[in-house]
Amino acid sequence: MKKIILFVVVGFLFSGISAQKFDNLAKTPPMGWNSWNKFGCNVSETLIMGAADAIVRGGMKDAGYEYVIIDDCWQVSRDENGEIVVDKDRFPHGMKYVADYVHSKGLKFGIYSCAGTKTCAGRPGGFGHEYQDARTYAAYGVDYLKYDWCNSTTQEARSSYTNMRDALYKAGRPIVFSLCEWGQNKPWEWAGEVGHLWRTTGDISDSWNSMITLFSQQKDLARYAGPGRWNDPDMLEVGNGRMTTEEYKTHFSLWCMLAAPLLAGNDLQNMTPETKSILLNKEIIALDQDTLGRQATCYRDNTDYQIWIKALADNEKAVCLLNKSDEKKTVLVDFALLAQANSGRRGGGSRNGAPLTIDNFRVRDLWDHKDLVMKEASMYIDLLPHTVKVFRFIKK
Ligand code: GLA
Repeated sequence: MKKIILFVVVGFLFSGISAQKFDNLAKTPPMGWNSWNKFGCNVSETLIMGAADAIVRGGMKDAGYEYVIIDDCWQVSRDENGEIVVDKDRFPHGMKYVADYVHSKGLKFGIYSCAGTKTCAGRPGGFGHEYQDARTYAAYGVDYLKYDWCNSTTQEARSSYTNMRDALYKAGRPIVFSLCEWGQNKPWEWAGEVGHLWRTTGDISDSWNSMITLFSQQKDLARYAGPGRWNDPDMLEVGNGRMTTEEYKTHFSLWCMLAAPLLAGNDLQNMTPETKSILLNKEIIALDQDTLGRQATCYRDNTDYQIWIKALADNEKAVCLLNKSDEKKTVLVDFALLAQANSGRRGGGSRNGAPLTIDNFRVRDLWDHKDLVMKEASMYIDLLPHTVKVFRFIKK
């Protein structure tokens, strides 16, 4: 009898172990760089290693950017054993060499594949090769896998992604698992058990309309995000040239308010000072990386003008005023009211029960890098078209 009980207990433990994602990864939203938005299929070891160098040299590593991710088009075929074959012209030294180089810079290495038979760019997908590919990625030294959804035909999303999750776990190397099925099967409802982040929308493009539309689609998803499980409204377009500097500041601010993954998608080796100052705004990044891991909620919605609030650790909060319109707006902001707003905090209010009033806080403008000088608790604020103001309520 004892033996049977032991067998059942061990069996239970084993089944528990064999079916899970890697815990304790992505406790804050992943930060890094991905090749797709700027370079598309034009990837090579020179590009990826150059990006790693630039992350270190330009101060991005110090600011928290960590993952260097090759998106689609690094793979060309499968060999007679079903092994994925790397494009030898573009990656002459193979993928382990690139991974080793990225690791030698103190960074982490990410790669891309697809749950379907082919990737979105028509390269070999992972379908039917999940366990084999997971072992290969582990052998390369991969730390992050983005898994796409093209050519998945009749596959069921949850079971397909769970299969790859289990394959990664079995391969034994901790890998952040990024689901990319574009929000088609409401991944926020089930992907927390499967991966560490999941795309909630179709692809971003480098335009104000695309960016602000994707942002709006996150409005009802805040409750699904938290440490180790993030909504992903797609990668950053900051610095790619088709939005104004002010619009890129808005884009970056909103992504940080959402606790979105921060994957730069620009040419890191040729950045303007404006682009650098946005991607390296550590006070804004700190909102994204806050350990409480809450996604902002919309506190006031006057369509063109919105107020978003993100609860932060230690009873602090971030407030973002957003002017979506094409006209300048002057808004009267009641900071005393905002100090009390509970910003979607689960449980609400201050943890020790003390009321939070404006007297508890100083209010810092995170783009001006200055505390607000307030004569009264309410003040008029000018918002140019397509801009934000981002304030942090810092406990005195
Ligand atoms: C899909 C994804 C993009 C990118 C491309 C690559 O469109 O959503 O982010 O990975 O595939 O082909």
